[in-house]
Formats: sequence, structure tokens, C-alpha cells
Amino acid sequence: MASLTVRRLDEGLKKALRLRAARSGRSVEDEVRTILRSAVAESPRDARTSAREQRTPPSPPPTPSRRVLLVIGGGIAAYKSLDLIRRLKERGLALRCILTRAATHFVTPLAAGALVGERVFTDLFDPAHEFDVGHIRLARETDLAVVAPATADLLAKLAGGHADDLATAVLLATEAKILLAPAMNPRMWAHRATQRNLARLLADGAALVGPNEGEMAEAGERGPGRMAEPVEIADAVMRLLAERVAPVLANTRVLVTSGPTHEPIDPVRYIANRSSGKQGHAIAHAAARAGADVILVSGPVNLPDPPGVTTVHVETARDMLRAVERALPVDVAIFAAAVADWRVDNAGRQKMKKIPGGEAPTLALKENPDILASVARRTAQRPRLVIGFAAETENITANARAKLARKGCDWIVANDVSPHTGVMGGDRNRVSLVTADGVEAWPLQSKEEVAAKLIARIADTLAVPA
Ligand code: CTP
Repeated sequence: MASLTVRRLDEGLKKALRLRAARSGRSVEDEVRTILRSAVAESPRDARTSAREQRTPPSPPPTPSRRVLLVIGGGIAAYKSLDLIRRLKERGLALRCILTRAATHFVTPLAAGALVGERVFTDLFDPAHEFDVGHIRLARETDLAVVAPATADLLAKLAGGHADDLATAVLLATEAKILLAPAMNPRMWAHRATQRNLARLLADGAALVGPNEGEMAEAGERGPGRMAEPVEIADAVMRLLAERVAPVLANTRVLVTSGPTHEPIDPVRYIANRSSGKQGHAIAHAAARAGADVILVSGPVNLPDPPGVTTVHVETARDMLRAVERALPVDVAIFAAAVADWRVDNAGRQKMKKIPGGEAPTLALKENPDILASVARRTAQRPRLVIGFAAETENITANARAKLARKGCDWIVANDVSPHTGVMGGDRNRVSLVTADGVEAWPLQSKEEVAAKLIARIADTLAVPA
């Protein structure tokens, strides 16, 4: 019977064995025995499987939309990312891994590769890798990219759109959502530059997990900056994958107006309405999640700009019209804004003063341009689908039908904005979709659900050739 001396094995194999043994809590010799035992127990076909497959316990086959790219940044927390690999694989995800150059100071490509079950990627200019997978394929063939640890430096590079190494090039090229798991010293985390970079990345659509509060690697340091635990990150990954929406509006340009307009009376006063912008913003967000290129023209609202959307902020109806015209051509235009019908024609250049005992000023109102009608009636650059909203307080459907004809749009989303409905400013909406084919009453649902349903209807309609 042949004998085997572990010491004589090549260095790479020894390292992989040590790692595997450490993971399973066995001595290296016991680990070798376990491997041999399971190899012998396998069927003849299985015995022919490659060494690589033997190293990795078989994981359930990944279902579509479950391909994850893990980018390990260069921080002390990188050691936790080895455990993260294990957690992600346990969840049946197909995993690829990139190590930044700095990360290789903390974990070796061999250790990460042994856990992933295939080689990991480190170099943008590695001819073998470009031949094999290539950075564009790494970017494309993923449903979610996870950056863990996301160091202050990586956040800054990503926020600035840098692409000078494999990790940043792939993260810039990917259309997949990016989940950031920051890890850094609390002072670096609190720094305005880091917070600015993070805000930029979140506005661009990235998601965040952690950082947690606690003891840092540096003695005596405490505060927010510890990378989220591997299980927390893996849970966030599963949540984000479950939320994924099919890119039904890929290659589609969508324009959305939202919110009220403010029409100045003088430099400090204005006429407004109660629109919160929640419905319009939810539509813009839903369109972006469905893969559309979205421009949101928003009146003054107290809402953050939706992630993944280009938001143009305007104040008056005339500003809104100009921004809408600049955004054309688009495939779909959705006019959810509550545009003021009138502006003050005699607005004061200076603040109007109250004269004791004098008369109250009279405001002369002038009609604002109808933005929806002007786009719907265009002969050049008319969007394929022009959708208006009808905010009504009575005779909802009849008024909406009349509006559809009067404005020349394709659909009207009619809603009852009577005060008792709580629609204006509220989180729920009951709408009817009015088209040339008839009226469809939708149930009372959240504004996000209305948005998702509308986007699905738009995608179905666009899928039919014009
Ligand atoms: N709209 C617009 N420009 C305006 C007024 C309205 O683009 N100056 C759009 C709204 O964004 C909405 C639709 O037209 O999509 C209907 O808005 P609504 O306020 O319900 O209708 P009005 O045209 O203002 O008619 P009315 O106020 O008499 O009901």
C-alpha cells in the first residue's frame, strides 16, 4: 500500500488543505483521510470528477438570477469575506470573486479560490483571464455585485467612476445592482468625503449593509465602521436578489413629471398645491428598476431623488415645460405632476408690502402652458406612449375620458383626490386606467404597487410592435 507524506505535497495544495482543515476543524491529516474516504465511497463516474470539484462540496444548482460577484477590498475585514463566500455558497448562489490588489495583502487568491471553488480574479491586464472570462463578462454575467469590505478608497473610486483596476472596471461596467458592505476606521467613515461618496453611490442606485458599531481592529478604537457580519451580508444579498425586477424596459427612455409647481406671487410667496410627488417619484423609481433610462422632472418636493434616475429640479410650470422639452426624445412620457393651471401675471419683483389700512392686492392670474397636451400633440418627437394623470374630486371617469380626448394622450390614470380619500400626500392610491379601449378600475394599493403595475402595463404595450 502506498504511503503519502503531506509535507512533500506542493505548496499550493498544502495551503488549500490547511485552509480546508481549518474550516472543518480537523487536523490536516484527518482532512486528507476524510477526502480519501469520500473519494473511495463515490461511484466510478464520480471518482473521475476533477480535483476542483472534489475540493468544493456540491451546491444546489443556481437558479437564474442568482449569480453573485463578490469584490473583496483591501481591509482587515477581508478575512470575514472568506466566511461570506461560504455563506453565499450555502445559499446556492453561483459565485465569482475579484480581489483588489490591496485585498491580496489580507487574504490570498488561493484561499478565496479554494472556498469559491474556482480561480478568483485579480488583474485587469491578465491575458489568461481576459481570454478565459474577461472583465466585461464578469460585469455582465452577474445579478448582483457585492463589495465587502468596501473600503473608503474603493467608495471614493466608485463614486468618481474610476476604472483603473479589475474591481473598479467591472463595477463600472456592470448593470447589476451593487451592494456595499463598508468597513473602515470610524473617523474615516464619519469623514465628509466618505459620506459624500456614499450619498453619491446610493443616489446612483447602490444598496448598503452596515457598517456596524463596535470594537475596531486598532486597539482602543470604537464606533461605526465594522463590516456587517457575513450572515447579515448574505441575508441582504438574498433580499436584493428577491427584489430584482425583470428588465422589461431595458433600452427604453422614460420621462416622468412629478410633484407640484410653485408659482411666485413675489420673491417670498407662491401659489402651490398639496401634491407630495410620491406617486410620480414611485413611477420613476419603478421604471428605473425595470431597466429604463429615466429622467424625472420634479417640482419642489420633500422626497429624496429616486436612485438610478436622472432628476431635474424645477419650480414653475414654465421651468417644467422647458425641462420636459430638453428631455425629448423619449419612448414613454408620464405626466404625474400636479402642474399649477395658473401663474401670477403681476408677480411682484420685490416682496409686496402690507400698507396699514390699505387695500389687499389683487392677483391677476394667467394660464400656464399645458405640458402634457403640448407633448401629446407634437408631430415631431412624439413619445410612443403619452400618459396623463387626472386628479379629480367628482365624476372621475367621465372627466378622465374627456381629458384623454382633450389632451390627445394615450392613457389617463384617473384618481380621486377628494380630501376624504387621503390620496394627496398619502401613501396609497386608488386609480382607474382610462384608455381608448375602456376603463379599468384598480384596487386601493400602495403608490409603489400602482407604479409597478403601470410599468408592467407599459412594458406589455411596448412589446407589441407599433
Ligand atoms: N398637466 C400638465 N400641464 C398643465 C396642467 C396639467 O402637464 N399645465 C397634466 C398633469 O400632469 C396631468 C394632466 O395634465 O397629467 C391632468 O392634470 P389635471 O390637473 O388633472 O387637469 P387639468 O388639465 O389641470 O384640468 P382641470 O384642473 O380642469 O381638471
